Amino acid sequence: MKKTLYLILFWISFYPLLAQTPQSIIPIETNDNALVLHIDKDNRVGVIYFGKKISQNAEYETLAKSLKYKDDNAGIYNSIYTPSGTWSLVESALEILHADGNTSTELKFVSHNIEKIDANVTQTNIVLRDPVYETQVTLSFKSYSKENIIEQWSTIKNQEKNTITLKKYASANLYFIAKDYYLHHYHGSWAREMKPEDTKLTAGIKTLDSKLGTRANLYQPPTFMLSFDRQATEDEGKVLLGTLAWSGNFKIDFEKDSYRNLRLIAGINPHASAYSLAANQEFQTPSFIYTYSENGKGEASKNMHNWARKYRILDGQGSRLTLLNNWEATYFDFDENKLTGLFKGAKDLGVDMFLLDDGWFANKYPRNGDNAGLGDWQENKKKLPNGIGYLVKEATKAGVKFGIWVEPEMVNPKSELYEKHLDWVIREPNRPETYFRNQLPLDLSNPDVQDYVFGVLDNLFTKNPELAFIKWDCNAVTYNAHSMYLEKAKLPQSHLYVEYVRGLYKVLQRIRAKYPKVPMMLCSGGGGRVDYEALKYFTEFWVSDNTDPMERIFMQWEYSYYYPAIAQCNHITDWSNVGIKFRTDVAMMGKMGYDIVVSKLDEKELVFSQNALKNYNNLKEIIWHGDMYRLVNPFENQMASVQYVNEQKDHAVMFNYLVDNRYDLTSLLSTTKLKGLDAKKKYKIKEINIYPGTKSTINEEIIYSGDYLMTIGINPNLSNRRTSVVLEINEVK
Ligand code: GLA
Repeated sequence: MKKTLYLILFWISFYPLLAQTPQSIIPIETNDNALVLHIDKDNRVGVIYFGKKISQNAEYETLAKSLKYKDDNAGIYNSIYTPSGTWSLVESALEILHADGNTSTELKFVSHNIEKIDANVTQTNIVLRDPVYETQVTLSFKSYSKENIIEQWSTIKNQEKNTITLKKYASANLYFIAKDYYLHHYHGSWAREMKPEDTKLTAGIKTLDSKLGTRANLYQPPTFMLSFDRQATEDEGKVLLGTLAWSGNFKIDFEKDSYRNLRLIAGINPHASAYSLAANQEFQTPSFIYTYSENGKGEASKNMHNWARKYRILDGQGSRLTLLNNWEATYFDFDENKLTGLFKGAKDLGVDMFLLDDGWFANKYPRNGDNAGLGDWQENKKKLPNGIGYLVKEATKAGVKFGIWVEPEMVNPKSELYEKHLDWVIREPNRPETYFRNQLPLDLSNPDVQDYVFGVLDNLFTKNPELAFIKWDCNAVTYNAHSMYLEKAKLPQSHLYVEYVRGLYKVLQRIRAKYPKVPMMLCSGGGGRVDYEALKYFTEFWVSDNTDPMERIFMQWEYSYYYPAIAQCNHITDWSNVGIKFRTDVAMMGKMGYDIVVSKLDEKELVFSQNALKNYNNLKEIIWHGDMYRLVNPFENQMASVQYVNEQKDHAVMFNYLVDNRYDLTSLLSTTKLKGLDAKKKYKIKEINIYPGTKSTINEEIIYSGDYLMTIGINPNLSNRRTSVVLEINEVK
């Protein structure tokens, strides 16, 4: 009786699902979107749909029947993981040299399973196998419903008797159908990070890639936006935001096929990276992470922020420390007294922490410049006779926490480490060394080097348990990619780029197992290194060495599409000579810090900064955890305007900047519409961060409806005299 009841209940709950989804269809869905896969009559799996989801899954079958993805010349375009050497003559996702020297691979559907991880997260695994060779590929799609994010990776298993070589092993292979495709991507270099470019994709392949090894993103990051049909704007249009979660070489291909559909293949860069996989071994690729919106870039970006804070960035929903860094204040020229003297400045200013930067270590070859000492992580006795422990104590006495800079993956040839362990250095033994900032990367594919790098951090924490923060730098690319370790272990040199990154993650995993929460900043002589795999271990990243606020308005704007403000370190420095107000207002749109000599501030500057920090402490919850809205785009206007709103919609902040002070200031005369408020609520607007001795032109007494502010807006009154204006918006009850 009971059994029959269960059976009835089972059918009641599952019948609709079974009835709706034909067996040949695998929909991977989030709240708003669907990636729909179809198993064809030959058991090959292809993408038949990507976009807004429909309510009746059964209808995807109708779509499958009505489309043609096979081209008699080039093969099947829409494959979910295009193998090579058989029926496909277009760009592949997987290339294998089998144990017997054969180069052909075919992938056929075997099975799939859907694992409900929790109410929001579902993982779909699809198993494909070569009918001739014992190669198995599992494609995994983790979908985060509410955030509309899909995280996708592949696992390749060698079930042949001998070693095979993976010549290409992408993370994702997607397929899009639209009238036109517009790619928004980036290039840059030191101090010029995240320069955007827009390209309408034409027939053929457009590639975004890096071959730099360490700090792979220096010239090009693996982040991009792809608009469909027409260029998406902030609030309109179909757009995909994508990025590869991998801190090494990447390659993302966009191939417009002969039917004008778009093939996307993203993964580790196969350049010089053929990977041999022994029998029964598996290779798991990094994740390709993407979100899609039919309501423009703003919504897509908000999806990414919500997902990153909740699921990816270390302590993404937690708090951060404001800080004073000594890099630009002292460079390498400091000693114990000079540093303890700066602690007082940190306290006077009102920041949480003092961060000691480069230059504190090495004795035989003291770190007095960037040409010596990297690798020798003992306190320099001349500069710091009483060690770091003393500084930590003095900082505590002064009322601030203490953090420290390290660059543990690198070595200067002028160092004891280099003299002792040449075999740990990445270099071609038969060629002259090539340096980037006078240094070379250590070989993190070597487990001894991993132990050493872990030890650098572990020693610091063991000796100084109160250490509150780490700035982890990485300032060189990988020239002459050769590993003595791989050579001795008789492993191919072509494993180096991959094993370096895996070695780095192993170290970071060990650090996080022992020190789960200590905040760590990911830095790389600028924004040369940030991605969503590294951010599992880091709480924040250094946007750029370029802290000129005018440049930062643009740079932070672009970074903000992919990374939430809580992760972006913005420091107020003397890089530019615009007033401290402009510098501070811009730095506030992220995780704020200082890199100045506080005692050099005049009275007004100090008072302004102290008040600004108080304002920041009052607003940081919204900036770090609220919704961000880009209101006025500085690339297209004479001003920039950005807003952050809390969940209750009762507290918001709006940052406005003049970015072009030519005489024709037309856009400055109009109002800027706010977003994300409650139309029915009433609000008052107050200007904050007012420089001592100046007056606001904003009338604080007016009560506005949310409706008014979002439909008509307000004018922040930017002008040549008011180049930056910060407005705090509070609900009036
Ligand atoms: C890099 C960082 C800087 C500073 C220096 C120290 O350039 O980006 O902030 O830490 O290294 O050498």
